[in-house]
Amino acid sequence: MISARKSALTIPPPVLLANIGQLLTLRSASGNRGPRRASDLKELGIIKDGAVLCLGGKIVSVGTTKDALRDPWLKKHRKKVTEIDCADKVVLPGFVDSHTHPVFVRPRLVDFEKRVEGASYEEIAAAGGGIRSSLDAVRRSAKSVLTMKVMTALAEMAAHGTTTVEAKSGYGLTVESELKSLEAIKDAASRWPGTVVPTLLGAHVVPKEFQVCSQKYVEIVCKEMIPRAAKRKLAQFVDVFCDRGAFTPEETEQIFAAAEKHRLSVRAHMGQLLETVLSPFLRFNPASFDHLDHVNEDDVRQLAKRDTMATLVPGANYFLGLKEYPDARRLIDAGVPVALATDYNPGTSPTISIPMAMSLACTHMRMSPAEAVAAATINGAWALRVADRKGSIEPGKDTDFAMFDANDYREIAYWFGANHCAMTVLNGVVVPHK
Ligand code: NIG
Ligand code: FE
Repeated sequence: MISARKSALTIPPPVLLANIGQLLTLRSASGNRGPRRASDLKELGIIKDGAVLCLGGKIVSVGTTKDALRDPWLKKHRKKVTEIDCADKVVLPGFVDSHTHPVFVRPRLVDFEKRVEGASYEEIAAAGGGIRSSLDAVRRSAKSVLTMKVMTALAEMAAHGTTTVEAKSGYGLTVESELKSLEAIKDAASRWPGTVVPTLLGAHVVPKEFQVCSQKYVEIVCKEMIPRAAKRKLAQFVDVFCDRGAFTPEETEQIFAAAEKHRLSVRAHMGQLLETVLSPFLRFNPASFDHLDHVNEDDVRQLAKRDTMATLVPGANYFLGLKEYPDARRLIDAGVPVALATDYNPGTSPTISIPMAMSLACTHMRMSPAEAVAAATINGAWALRVADRKGSIEPGKDTDFAMFDANDYREIAYWFGANHCAMTVLNGVVVPHK
C-alpha cells in the first residue's frame, strides 16, 4: 500500500470534527468483525451531533459533541487542536474505491460514438477499438505523462469523497510498459495524501502481436511481469480479465498460480460478458470477483460462505447502455459480501465518482442508500484487505473522512450528477472543496 505520509516526517496536527449533523461511523452493531453481508450491510452506526477526535493521523475517540467536549485531554489541549465545525453536514469514512484503471492517456471517443449508434462493447473491440486501442499511447508515453494522468484522477476522486483507491495497470501490456504504469501509480501515490493500492493487470487482454499464440503472452505475464513487479514491490494484487475475448479460466488459473508463487494476492474481472464457474478459483483465496453480471447459483452459495468480495461496478452497465445490471439483491440476500466501485476506465466507465456509483446502485440494482454507503466504504476496505485501517470511523483507524453538504446521508445517492462533497480528510490532510 502506498500513501504519501508513509515516509513523511510530518505528523498531522490534532483535529476535532465537531457538531456533525449525521456521523456515519459504520461501526458494526452486531460486533461482526468480517466483511458486511446480508442485513449487516445496512448498519451505518449513525450518531447525531457527533464528534471525532484525531491524534497523530489516527482516530482516538468517536461519540457525541457533548461527550467530546467533556474529555479531559481535549479540555487541557483545546488550543492545539484544529476544530472543524460540521454543523448541517454528513460525515462518513472516506470512500474506498476498490476497482479503478487510471493509467491511460486518452478517452475513447470514437468507441463512445459507435456505441451510441448501436454497436456493442465486443463489436467495437473486434473492429479495432476497445482496450487494444488504448495501448499505443501508453507504450509511447513517458512515465511522467502517465503519472500526471493518475494524479489528476486521484485529485478528482478526492474531490468526490474518495480517500483510498485501488489502481490497476493494464493499458501497456508489454513488460516494460506495465512496469512503467505501476511506477507511475507509485509516483502519483507518493504525491497524493490518500492511500493507493496498486494492482498488476498485465492480463487485461491478449495484445494483437500475441493473438495467435495467447499462451506465449500468458507466459510473459507469469514469468516476467509478475516476478518483476513482485520483486520491486510495485503491486499488491494481480488481476485478470477472465471473460469471452480476454483470458480463459485455464489461463487465469495459471496466472493466479504465478501470483501465489510470488506472494501476490489475486482478484479478477469475472462474469461481465459471460458466466464463468468461480469455484475452481477459490483455492487462491481471491480478494474479489468484480462485475458479476453473470453468476450461477452454486457460486452464489459458495461466495456467501467466504470473504471474497463481490465488487459491483454499475458505472460500466450505465455507460455501455445495458438494460441489465448485476443482481445485487440476489447476492446480498444470499449473504454474499458486496462492494461498490467506479471501475474508472476509458472504455466502460469514465467516472471517478463513487456517489454516482451509489446512485446507480440504488436506482438500478435496488440497493438501499445505506447498503450503498457500506458497500463503498467498509466493504471496499475489505476488498482491498485494508479493513483494519480503513472503511469505518472507529478508534485506531486512519483519519480518512468525507464530509457532504447534506442533512441526511441518503442525499449522497439522491442528488445524482452534482458533487456535494464539501471536504475530504486523507490520512489527516484536510482538503476543503468549497
Ligand atoms: O472493467 N472489462 C475489462 N476491463 C474494463 C474495461 C477496460 C476498457 O474497456 O478499457 C472494465 O470494464
Ligand atoms: Fe475493470
